[in-house]
Amino acid sequence: MGQEDWAELQRNLEATIPVYDRINRFATMGQDKRWRKMVRSRLPKEGSILEVGCGPGTFAEMIPERELTCLDPIPEMLSVAEKRVNSNRDPPAKFVEATAENMPFEDGSFEGVCSLFSFRDWFDKRAGLAEVKRVLKPGGKLIIVDPAKMNRVHGWFGYLWMRIWVGGYARFICKMKDHPWKWLTKTYVHFGTTKTYVKMLKDVGFKDVKSKVVFPGMATIWTAHKPE
Ligand SMILES: C[S@@+](CC[C@H](N)C(=O)[O-])C[C@H]1O[C@@H](n2cnc3c(N)ncnc32)[C@H](O)[C@@H]1O
Repeated sequence: MGQEDWAELQRNLEATIPVYDRINRFATMGQDKRWRKMVRSRLPKEGSILEVGCGPGTFAEMIPERELTCLDPIPEMLSVAEKRVNSNRDPPAKFVEATAENMPFEDGSFEGVCSLFSFRDWFDKRAGLAEVKRVLKPGGKLIIVDPAKMNRVHGWFGYLWMRIWVGGYARFICKMKDHPWKWLTKTYVHFGTTKTYVKMLKDVGFKDVKSKVVFPGMATIWTAHKPE
């Protein structure tokens, strides 16, 4: 994705904030909550966690007991997330404006890094993964969830699901033809297969790379470790 497309994507993501959770729940028929729980159960049991692309804080608020840093390039996302996430936690989570590709953290800062429904939007995924590896402690764990394709046929079903099911509902809720959720379909079309990112994670130097397509086939969870 070019810089101009990415800037347009960011404007559209910002426009989703008021209806983000509602449309996600409908789009995934309630499965997104289960997928978030799967990510939570895969996080390292101790130590500091970084969520890359925290959006409006939907996942971050599910881990109130963890030492947490939330990163996102959109200031409005961070401001909404901070109010929501820090209303019930002590010490508060930190909120940082940056991109995955260029993170303002020291090497080896986190035991765990997670990214939920954001990896698809990174403009340079390889550079972002290399940054994640840099900021993880040796042995630290990365968990990503996003809707990847298993193959071309599965990709077509995914495309139709987003275009018709999600797009139709978003159009109804947002009451506009040119609604921001159209970008979900665009980023999905450009996103690779589950195997593409297994290979990329290995190429970047992660080990124990695993992927699992989660029921009912709309999303993939990847896990990987930084070598000791
Ligand atoms: C769909 S939201 C995900 C929200 C949240 N993680 C959740 O669990 O629902 C995707 C987020 O990724 C962020 N994002 C897009 N490109 C990014 C990048 N290059 N680096 C980090 N975050 C990015 C967007 O700003 C947006 O807030």
